[in-house]
Amino acid sequence: MKVETAGAARLGVNVDHVATLRQARRIRYPDPVAAAVVAELAGADNITVHLREDRRHIQDRDVQVLRRIVQTRLNLELAAVPEMVRFALEVRPDSVTLVPERREEVTTEGGLDLRAAFAPVREAVAALVAAGIHTGIFIDADTEQIERARETGANSIEIHTGRYCDAPDDAGMGRELALIRQGAVAAAKLDLEVHAGHGLNLQNAREVAAIPEIVEFNIGHSLVSRAVFVGLERAVSEMKALITAARAAGG
Ligand code: PXP
Repeated sequence: MKVETAGAARLGVNVDHVATLRQARRIRYPDPVAAAVVAELAGADNITVHLREDRRHIQDRDVQVLRRIVQTRLNLELAAVPEMVRFALEVRPDSVTLVPERREEVTTEGGLDLRAAFAPVREAVAALVAAGIHTGIFIDADTEQIERARETGANSIEIHTGRYCDAPDDAGMGRELALIRQGAVAAAKLDLEVHAGHGLNLQNAREVAAIPEIVEFNIGHSLVSRAVFVGLERAVSEMKALITAARAAGG
């Protein structure tokens, strides 16, 4: 399977929060499928959705329809549990990203802990990779986690950028950014494709986007939030331009 290592970076647009708004009323709109079409027209390189076990935003039908209409690539985030893996094997997204999930959390709170969850993750990765689906694991930028991710046979990791984005001051952000950079270099050396995401917005994405080893950024909440004021097309195209400029400038 092709593994990207450097050069241009992809923007994955996560449309979960369009579904969050729809589910607030449990009606038919706004439709995350329509959001995916607009995001692609604005330059998204893939569409990401997280099908949670509690179905709080994205529904099975959304993923099934997205599979048929997405023109770029469909990245499905899910927990490494048999029910979700079976669903992924049926729908056959272009990629799967395995994420931790706790019902009581407001959003994904950190990377998967492969010290605790190695066996079920390795099993899920084996089934998905055997089916030809590019499979990644969402982890913190920690050397042991990265080595364990490699041992599962995954194609990629997605580095959790939440702690960098939530750091209270510049010094904290600097420390977290250094960890992300080190983790990206370490993972690329192990031939893992490197992605990053969580909490990225127009104010904090530039420094992460300049890390050459990271080839894909998955961004949702800030884009959908900004879309309320400026429209989704503009929100996506601004972020795409920011990533492209950060790569060109090298930082
Ligand atoms: N990547 C992963 C693995 C995630 O779980 C999420 C949140 O669903 C994102 C990226 C996007 O995070 P945000 O919505 O904060 O941009």
